[in-house]
Amino acid sequence: MTGTELRYLMCKPTHYEVDYIINPWMEGNVHRSSRELAEQQWQGLYTVLSEIADVQLVEPALGWPDMVFTANAGLVLDNNVVISRFFHPERQGEEPFFGAWFGSQGYTVCEMPSKIAFEGAGDALFDREGRWLWAGYGFRSSLESHPYLAKYLDVEVLSLRLVDNRFYHLDTCFCPLTDGYLLYYPPAFDEASNRVIESRVSPEKRLVIGEVDAVNFACNAVNVGRTVIVNQVTAALASRFESCGFTVRQTPLTEFLKAGGAAKCLTLRLTEPRTTELSQIKVSTRTVELQGHLLDTALMTEVIDLVLKGGASFEIQAFEVGLRRQDTSYARLLVTAPTVETLESVLSQLIDRGALLPDDAILDAELQVVTRNGVAPQEFYVTNIYPTEVRIGGQWIAVSKQRMDGVVVVDPLAKTARCTLMRDVQVGDQVVCGVDGIRTIHQKAQPDHSKEEFSFMASGVSSERRVELVVEQVAWQLRRLREQGGKAVVVAGPVVIHTGGGVHLAALIREGYFQALLGGNAIAVHDIEQAFHGTSLGVDLQRGVTIQGGHRHHLKTINLIRSYGSIAETVHQGVLRSGVLYECVKGGVPFSLAGSIRDDGPLPDTEMDLVKAQTAYAQLLEGAEMIIMLSSMLHSIGVGNMTRAGVKLVCVDINPAVVTKLADRGSIESTGVVTDVGLFLSLLVRQLHHLDGATC
Ligand code: ARG
Repeated sequence: MTGTELRYLMCKPTHYEVDYIINPWMEGNVHRSSRELAEQQWQGLYTVLSEIADVQLVEPALGWPDMVFTANAGLVLDNNVVISRFFHPERQGEEPFFGAWFGSQGYTVCEMPSKIAFEGAGDALFDREGRWLWAGYGFRSSLESHPYLAKYLDVEVLSLRLVDNRFYHLDTCFCPLTDGYLLYYPPAFDEASNRVIESRVSPEKRLVIGEVDAVNFACNAVNVGRTVIVNQVTAALASRFESCGFTVRQTPLTEFLKAGGAAKCLTLRLTEPRTTELSQIKVSTRTVELQGHLLDTALMTEVIDLVLKGGASFEIQAFEVGLRRQDTSYARLLVTAPTVETLESVLSQLIDRGALLPDDAILDAELQVVTRNGVAPQEFYVTNIYPTEVRIGGQWIAVSKQRMDGVVVVDPLAKTARCTLMRDVQVGDQVVCGVDGIRTIHQKAQPDHSKEEFSFMASGVSSERRVELVVEQVAWQLRRLREQGGKAVVVAGPVVIHTGGGVHLAALIREGYFQALLGGNAIAVHDIEQAFHGTSLGVDLQRGVTIQGGHRHHLKTINLIRSYGSIAETVHQGVLRSGVLYECVKGGVPFSLAGSIRDDGPLPDTEMDLVKAQTAYAQLLEGAEMIIMLSSMLHSIGVGNMTRAGVKLVCVDINPAVVTKLADRGSIESTGVVTDVGLFLSLLVRQLHHLDGATC
């Protein structure tokens, strides 16, 4: 090696052509490039670059047409080179030739472990101030290669995930420039990577390019000092460059674009600046285990999807497939993420699906102390509907009051844990944070936790044809609950009244099938309007016609109740004598009406303080074994969030979207029924009366 001057490596296109397809640019271009023109264009680039740097050459090898793209030979820093391990077999044959060249020049050659792909400076670009290394992954280089880069070269590595296969190498869409500038095409990266970029490069230093420049490989530029050598740029980008003090040298490289490369790909910088900062290995990995019906319930695919969508990558280390239907499968995955935060967010989603961090790695749950009432520590673990256990002092403790979207508060001395809402945490409470020492249990009555099943059976959403069948089952369960003194709760919207279901719901309450009613202002107003005037929002329910001036009924109803002070008082005074709310008051069935912005009145019983209303709902739901949700998306979703897995949910709505949203909680106990709620209630009452007859 010679001196410290600026040096590049290139390779003559003697054997260059498009011979196979390993990126979208090569499609339709096989054997379509001109060797003569390619040589001319390559010479053009070589000449321009030679004016400003010393260009060394590696001998081209016959049969390895992409060897011209020396950016992919490896990544050089000082006297070290991390030699490439190509992803595609079509290029793997280049490795020994590049290896020999680096060896002959006296470099210390570092290699990635086998199976870890890394495509050199095509996917790893030094910040031009030498502060860190930007490293791409997603198509060619694997994320797992990044910690090795940090280790071998002793630099900080910032991982960026590529998501558009036209920009399969980092250098096709990203180009760090002198003085901290960055030329790049943001849509080629995922959200998280864009945030990483924005956190390191200030807005005035970001030169964002559009698609036209991106597909002309404007980012595939060679930058030396204030000079930028490129294939082609739009006039707009050229003047942008100028205003930032850069001189653009355009040199046509169309023949190489046919193989998916341009100026930067054709060169490898052999001298890199570096600062003295030490490496910080950012990439994090964790092993997770899955046990259950992984294939038949598509859980395996779901987990892999979650990992990839969450911005992490994975390696399957073990997979034992259950051979018979009742056998469960086992999988062990190594999950790698570019940052600790990404890893934790992916892991917590896997934990929600029952994944375990293997025994030898299991740690106690991390507890952080609340320092402000009503504010949880930012890293808090967000609960889901499944029974959860947390590990405290080496012991697994069951979390009480399970609900979703809550926080877990632990009393380490008493060895107890409970689920609560963030707004209810108090200074001094110890809250579970992170992902360690947490597990969710997806099937009850499984004494051996290592054998726990993922019960991810598709929740049923029925069509009209299946309604009667569902009604039979619901009737049977409601009756059984009533006989055993169990608890069933009904959540109802005003549609129950509009569709003529009021009489049926009133009958069910009268007959003791429900122990609580949850709704809003509207169901009560419509029900009472119906009792007073025979109309609901001014529509005559018997005849289905709008009554002249009927909407006044609605407001007069509210006013009347207000004059008595409460619904109960109206009943006690003998004014209200029928309907759903009447039966509740009569039968001592508690109800809670949660207000909303659109409420008329409201009724004196409607709770307009929503925090109080949520608490009242939660109290009435306590101990419920079955919840029937009738045409009220808002209240039903609210109730769904408060309810743990294991409670039977039946959601009835004419809108399939509402039903799917509620029934699709991944727990086997939810059933959706897409039908008219009035019809459903009439069938339910008929079926229950039929059962009564049968047992009398
Ligand atoms: N045909 C080559 C490939 O797909 C082109 C490589 C371009 N090199 C680069 N550093 N982007 O591997």
